[in-house]
Amino acid sequence: MLKLEDVSLSYRVGGEEPVVAVEGASTEIESGELVMVYGPSGSGKSTLLQLSAGLLAPDNGRVLVNGRDISGLSPREAARMRLHELGFLAAFTSVLPAPAIENAALKLIGRRVSWKQAEDQVRPLLERLGMGEKLDRDGRHLSMGERQRVMIARALSGKPKLLLADEPTSNLDSRRSKEVLGVIRDLCHETGLAALLVTHDPQAAVIADRVHVLRDGQLTDCEPHELTVALEG
Ligand SMILES: Nc1ncnc2c1ncn2[C@@H]1O[C@H](COP(=O)(O)OP(=O)(O)O)[C@@H](O)[C@H]1O
Ligand SMILES: [Mg+2]
Repeated sequence: MLKLEDVSLSYRVGGEEPVVAVEGASTEIESGELVMVYGPSGSGKSTLLQLSAGLLAPDNGRVLVNGRDISGLSPREAARMRLHELGFLAAFTSVLPAPAIENAALKLIGRRVSWKQAEDQVRPLLERLGMGEKLDRDGRHLSMGERQRVMIARALSGKPKLLLADEPTSNLDSRRSKEVLGVIRDLCHETGLAALLVTHDPQAAVIADRVHVLRDGQLTDCEPHELTVALEG
């Protein structure tokens, strides 16, 4: 579903030395798989995710979504792909001053689904994510963790084939975090959703089918003992 082939990206700011954010990253995520990329702050996680979503174009290498190389897409085509094929959850999300369910429905509204149908589709997702009691609560009056779950429901709406999520549980306590990740993992196993989640939380990485580590832009397979060490430390 998602294939990264030797992908690199450096940021160039003014006349300064380029910052290598991702260097020669390769991986493949199949349908039905939940893959986590675990790495400290500044290791290139958000860059890797934006490359996977076509929000950034690699300097080298290829990004294939569902077999198609997305680096050649125009910004408009990439935006279309994100709307119709992906669930994308950015690290910083802002909710609108509207009921939680309307916030969650927005992606489907962008696809020209009616409000009624959109709300009918996102309601079960919100309920599964533990937001069933707060469907009508204004986004401004939700906690950060509740907002995060609304945005996860939005990303998952419309049955995307691929979910890309940047620190999806950063505002959740560990119990809630486990629940939400469990819902995502179950959706992968039930519906064939492929998910790539990036996180600096080793606790979150435990639930994945496969874990990569990102260090200074370099992606490697994670040995189980590395996570154990991180969890203890
Ligand atoms: N827009 C940008 N311009 C210049 N440098 C950036 C930009 N975004 C990120 N970087 C740098 O690239 C590296 C990787 O950043 P990022 O992908 O955000 O890592 P993470 O998400 O793991 O914290 C860091 O050194 C960061 O400072
Ligand atoms: Mg980040």
